[in-house]
Amino acid sequence: MKPKTIVEPFRIRMTEPLPVSTPEQRQAYLRNAHFNPFLLRSREITIDLLTDSGTGAMSAAQWAAIMTGDETYAGSESYYQLRDVVQDLTGHRYVIPTHQGRSSEHILFSVLEVAGKQVLANSHFDTTRANVEYLKGEALDLVIEEARNTGSQHPFKGNIDLARLEHHLEVGGDKVALVLMTVTNNAGGGQPASLENLRAAAELAHRYGKPFMLDAARFAENAWFIKEREPGQQHRTPAKSHARSSASPMASP
Ligand SMILES: Cc1ncc(COP(=O)(O)O)c(C=O)c1O
Repeated sequence: MKPKTIVEPFRIRMTEPLPVSTPEQRQAYLRNAHFNPFLLRSREITIDLLTDSGTGAMSAAQWAAIMTGDETYAGSESYYQLRDVVQDLTGHRYVIPTHQGRSSEHILFSVLEVAGKQVLANSHFDTTRANVEYLKGEALDLVIEEARNTGSQHPFKGNIDLARLEHHLEVGGDKVALVLMTVTNNAGGGQPASLENLRAAAELAHRYGKPFMLDAARFAENAWFIKEREPGQQHRTPAKSHARSSASPMASP
């Protein structure tokens, strides 16, 4: 039996000073930023509730991998390691690394020619919506109603509303470019989508002849929630809970 702990079983050995401000200073920061948290500077923030990107601690193994990483201009070992892991997780043959999620979104939506078309998603992450709209497409969020109810204990508040998805596929016809599931649903509080919902959304997309894509930025966490919360999935490892079959993952962080 595995030992259980009530503490996180790791040591964090580095500290970084946090900026601490008075309520008056914070009010001034917010006014200067026109109440837009994207315009705040990180040095004005004590606890960052906008993003977890770049704010988390890294493990000793992650730091070590940076030191031993091979960044050779062509044919680097780090590329082959990444490719092998992505192929193993997704079953897809072709892997195109990009430096950030937002750049892969730009490439994908340019290739899929979203101009004048709709992208149907549970929720678009902000960079995803920006890329769709920049290319003159329309980004539609079709997350289930429970997602907007903070009191709801629904286990998969990142699910897409399948009835609304089918309606938009039906009436949209050629106007629909693709169906996109963000796992976890980061624009909606990082809530997970169930495997059942992912499979049903993929099935609907394919029935209407549309590509089904995953924005898989937090696919590992989503797989963990599937294992923990979805009936019938407890016997699987998170790697096996990952929706491997019919989706094309967008490369995200
Ligand atoms: C779901 C999702 N999609 C896309 C992105 C954009 O990725 P990047 O910040 O690497 O451009 C993020 C970033 O957090 C994300 O959470």
